[in-house]
Amino acid sequence: MTRPKIMTVYGTRPEAIKVAPLVKALAADDRFESLVVSTGQHREMLEQVNSMFGIVPDVDLAIMKPGQTLNGIVSRVIAALDEVLEREQPDAVVVHGDTSTAMASAIAAFNREIKVVHLEAGLRTDTLFSPFPEEANRRLISRVSSLNLAPTALSKRNLLAENADEATIVVTGNTVIDALIEASGWDTHFTDEKLEQLAHDDRRVILVTTHRRENLTAMSAIGRAMKRLAERYPDAAVVLPAHLNPKVRAAVLPEIDGVENVIVTEPLPYNEFTKLMARATIILTDSGGVQEEAPALGKPVLVMRENTERPEAVEAGTVRLVGLDEDRIVAEAARLLDDHEAYAAMANAVNPYGDGKAAARAVAAVSALTGEGARLADFAAGAMMPKPEYRGSNVDQ
Ligand code: UD1
Ligand code: UDP
Repeated sequence: MTRPKIMTVYGTRPEAIKVAPLVKALAADDRFESLVVSTGQHREMLEQVNSMFGIVPDVDLAIMKPGQTLNGIVSRVIAALDEVLEREQPDAVVVHGDTSTAMASAIAAFNREIKVVHLEAGLRTDTLFSPFPEEANRRLISRVSSLNLAPTALSKRNLLAENADEATIVVTGNTVIDALIEASGWDTHFTDEKLEQLAHDDRRVILVTTHRRENLTAMSAIGRAMKRLAERYPDAAVVLPAHLNPKVRAAVLPEIDGVENVIVTEPLPYNEFTKLMARATIILTDSGGVQEEAPALGKPVLVMRENTERPEAVEAGTVRLVGLDEDRIVAEAARLLDDHEAYAAMANAVNPYGDGKAAARAVAAVSALTGEGARLADFAAGAMMPKPEYRGSNVDQ
């Protein structure tokens, strides 16, 4: 008897992290034939995650080019994936989130009348150009999806507000929490000596990540804010695992060059990065995934953006939007570092994003789509998981 063939397509670091629990669950489920396709939109940063989770894609489209444009990514993904779709004839294609890989893969599958399953569906800022192009990508994918795996009740409501058919929506929780729980169970040590040193001393740590395309023109402000914070808190360490995009590096690195207590590293393996989040005092970021993981670890997050598609942790008080103004970033960080009460008010472990069972709910929902099984009960945000604890160092603040 032939089993339904489920093709999972992804191409960037955050997609790789968030599809890993699902890819593993599909591979372990005899009811399906699972096929994994990497578009290779990211090269090194994707390989880093694949090897960490032990995933070897069946197909690598290897589309990344230095300084790639959005239309370059989209056109290369559609052309290369179409050949694979024709050859493999999958019953469903799973895409994740809001990248150009996800949008192009969804359109390519839809054009071949293949069912699209959207993992992490329904996030919205309701501002078309922010984040760019992710907000548009999400909306476009929702238009062609047969199954919407919404991480939270809010994301389900967003889809219903756009007249999505309720029967296509399942609230799964976010698979990033499944990944975080897995990574927190590993005995991780930092490969970078300066970070390993941090793991064993009691300096305060200001962890920074940045990469958003729409932030590139203003990104040097982030570098200047880092420098000012490093000078204001000479006993603290400001740590930047730098994204590989050369435009990000060109904007930020000159601003922090030579500042002694700023540590710049290459992108960190997932287990090291999440352990560093657990070690951090505060986190400054424009990342999507970090906004979901850090609250689960009880870390205050200042989001260097004007809006967010992840308001759940803002409402819970652990995440604050601070925009991209240099003075505001410095002032908000200083408030947390100087004012114990302000810090304590934000440093709560809250986890509106998942209970570690998102992949199981996603697989069950896919089984219902293909007629092999039944859905599980929706994720309810009240069902909290315990805060993940990292081993091997002094991580408590
Ligand atoms: C992409 C996604 C964004 C996601 C981010 C996660 C789009 C349009 N953007 O943005 O939604 O939040 O990934 O990090 O889909 N590069 C390398 N090696 C790598 C990765 C990137 O050299 O492993 C360099 C290349 O020069 C590449 C550039 O970074 O051209 C930009 O990569 P790209 O995927 O276009 O954009 P991101 O900003 O990474
Ligand atoms: N991350 C990582 N190493 C790093 C920086 C981030 O593994 O050096 C992880 C982080 O834990 C999160 C994801 O990468 O799960 C976020 O990726 P990114 O910020 O690039 O993309 P976004 O989430 O904004 O789409």
